[in-house]
Amino acid sequence: MKLNQLLPTVAVAALLLTSTVGLAKRKHTVKIQNGLLWMDTEGRSVQAHGGNIIRHNGRWWLIGEDRSSSWNPDVNLYSSKDLQTWKFEGKVLENGVTHPELGRTRMIERPKLMYNKTTRKFVIWCHWEAKDYSASEAGVFESDAITGPYKTVWTGRPLDTKSRDCNIFQDIDGTAYFISTTDENTNLGLFKLSPDYHQAVSKTLLQEGQRREAPAIVNIDGLYYMISSACTGWDPNQAKLTTSRSLESGWTPLENIGDRIAFDTQASSILTIQGTQGTTYIYVGDRWMDPDLPNSKIIMLPIEFENGKMVLRWRESWTLDLKRGTWSD
Ligand code: GAL
Repeated sequence: MKLNQLLPTVAVAALLLTSTVGLAKRKHTVKIQNGLLWMDTEGRSVQAHGGNIIRHNGRWWLIGEDRSSSWNPDVNLYSSKDLQTWKFEGKVLENGVTHPELGRTRMIERPKLMYNKTTRKFVIWCHWEAKDYSASEAGVFESDAITGPYKTVWTGRPLDTKSRDCNIFQDIDGTAYFISTTDENTNLGLFKLSPDYHQAVSKTLLQEGQRREAPAIVNIDGLYYMISSACTGWDPNQAKLTTSRSLESGWTPLENIGDRIAFDTQASSILTIQGTQGTTYIYVGDRWMDPDLPNSKIIMLPIEFENGKMVLRWRESWTLDLKRGTWSD
């Protein structure tokens, strides 16, 4: 081939290379747009409310309530490489399939997914409830693969405690906790889990008499931060923050964080994005659209720190650099 014949080929190859590099560069910077309904890769609304997001095999996995139709949501799983393009991976807990009582006398709320490094299993803890919230139980499910099938491990009241709205917290050393609103929405119960995450082995009451729910905890350099809401059903209220050096004791008095209605959200989890230049902590909240629950939105806000204090501000949109672990307006 003569040089003048080769040149166009080289030019095309160079162009392709530049645009691929450009794409790769762009890909790790994502614009988070708040207030819109997320759509999945099949063009359907992302139904994963009250859940959490974990990192596994180079992807983020979002689990949550499918509020698209009934009082008793199925539990959906989605995966994403960039926290923006979400692929529906299937229903991981399903009415009439996973458990004979699911969808009959029981429903699931706030499903939370964890990976247990020791057993190499995926474990879901959730609120396991009757239609009128009288059961006050928790449910535990487990699978070898993140996508399922999940089998029931146990359902009931953890350590005989009436337990409702809930979350999980996995500490840096792998110890996991189930944290739920106990005793008719009066206290928060912090339940330490067995090494296999199958059962609660100890209980500590936190925020006694404070009537908190939707607790989301993160450990930042040995300081635990907990954001929670008051118990006002689907209606938003003032989120409050407390911190402690120990999970079991020493929590500071509750302080307001965010605006009067938590920017019309209720906390579902705090997501940690660790990158080459830093770490971004993301407040993930549900904007419940009761009575139009299928239209509920997932809101993501970058957590800021000012003079050592955690601060939450409303942002309609912001930019996250997934590779660097940094964010900007
Ligand atoms: C909220 C709770 C939700 C759901 C709802 C029902 O307070 O966080 O998970 O239980 O009440 O009204």
